[in-house]
Amino acid sequence: MIDTHSHINMIEGLTTDEIIKNAKDNGINKIIVPAANPGDFQVISALTQKYNNVFGMLGVHPSDAKTWDDSLPDTIKQLAQNKKIVAIGEIGLDYYWDKSFNDLQKEIFIKQIKLANELNLPIDVHDREAHKDTFELLKEYNKGSKVVMHCFSGSVEFARECIKEGYYLGIGGVVTFKNAIKMKEVVKSIPLEHIILETDAPYLTPVPFRGTENQPAYVKFVAEEIAKLRQISLEEVTNATEQTSKLIFGI
Ligand code: NI
Repeated sequence: MIDTHSHINMIEGLTTDEIIKNAKDNGINKIIVPAANPGDFQVISALTQKYNNVFGMLGVHPSDAKTWDDSLPDTIKQLAQNKKIVAIGEIGLDYYWDKSFNDLQKEIFIKQIKLANELNLPIDVHDREAHKDTFELLKEYNKGSKVVMHCFSGSVEFARECIKEGYYLGIGGVVTFKNAIKMKEVVKSIPLEHIILETDAPYLTPVPFRGTENQPAYVKFVAEEIAKLRQISLEEVTNATEQTSKLIFGI
């Protein structure tokens, strides 16, 4: 299995060696670490150099849009010469926490979509309560980069619209929550080939560890829930999601 979105640099209760070992012991062979802001760039680059199964993404999260400056594309281009930088992320729009700088968020999102296109890297999208604007900006500005809707949180209808555009959905721990009816419907309704696994660790810990700190090893609970919902074997889920992740990120 591949944990395609895991902030292992933000996990507090375990060392990185422990995180990687727990992951391996549970069948998670590769981990992709997204950046939230420029402060993460060097940390992530170093992690990809230290561990052969850790890959990175570089980008500025919408909630951190104010940390953007116009020298960053050059910095990212330079760091992305490291072939273990496999995507631009996480980038997008977040209207949940703070609506006071939506226009800035949009501007920074557009700049990073263009950067991903230029670098020929996939885009890992954070969309929280901003489905319409996120989708419209991607449709208008993205020219050819593969798109992952990380921690997908929309309806079945929105999922279908995304898939029509060829996007992929990152499914994480939320799908294991008992009250996540909409999410479970999404996972049952869309083609398996458009689903990839993620934890978004240290957040969104799946059942049965909900309430504690998340880690890549727990991505197996996400895979198990998807298998249960679709009434297929765990192996079918792990094979399909691994193949799709390889196709998207080239790993
Ligand atoms: Ni994240």
